[in-house]
Amino acid sequence: MSQIYINGMRDDPSVREYDTLDASVQELIQAAAAARNQAYCPYSNFAVGAALRTSDGSIYSGCNIENSAFAASICAERTAAAKAISEGKREFIACAVVAQQEKGFTTPCGICRQFLAEFAINGKDIPLYAAKPTNLPLRVLCSSVLELLPKSFSLDNGK
Ligand code: THU
Repeated sequence: MSQIYINGMRDDPSVREYDTLDASVQELIQAAAAARNQAYCPYSNFAVGAALRTSDGSIYSGCNIENSAFAASICAERTAAAKAISEGKREFIACAVVAQQEKGFTTPCGICRQFLAEFAINGKDIPLYAAKPTNLPLRVLCSSVLELLPKSFSLDNGK
């Protein structure tokens, strides 16, 4: 019988131990965890941090920022991406997302998947690491933007 996975639970091979990941990935996860501490989320009480590494080695991080007009809220991933892009950096080589959920990992919402897929330029995928802030031993869901959103919308689709 096939195993049902909920965001990388159970023995999903895409879930790895934090200690086995490259130091650069560990650093990115730590940056996302630090950004999560700045989350402004009085409505959901669900704090999220994200960090993007750009091709020059820089890290841009962000948190979710909610608003009493709920739809005006922004997710951590788009905060981080907007910071990088507005600083002239749009070649993303890795992304980390950190949040605390009892079961499974927090992966980007649909809007953030589309937003990030825009920058998986020429099909160059962006590895994505989803982790929890504390739970030790720390386990990390290793995926990618295009794995999370295959066939994303593009104005070139159908041409
Ligand atoms: N959120 C993020 O910032 N990133 C995600 O990957 C999932 C959801 C935020 C949006 C909202 O502020 C809160 O988490 C609850 O949905």
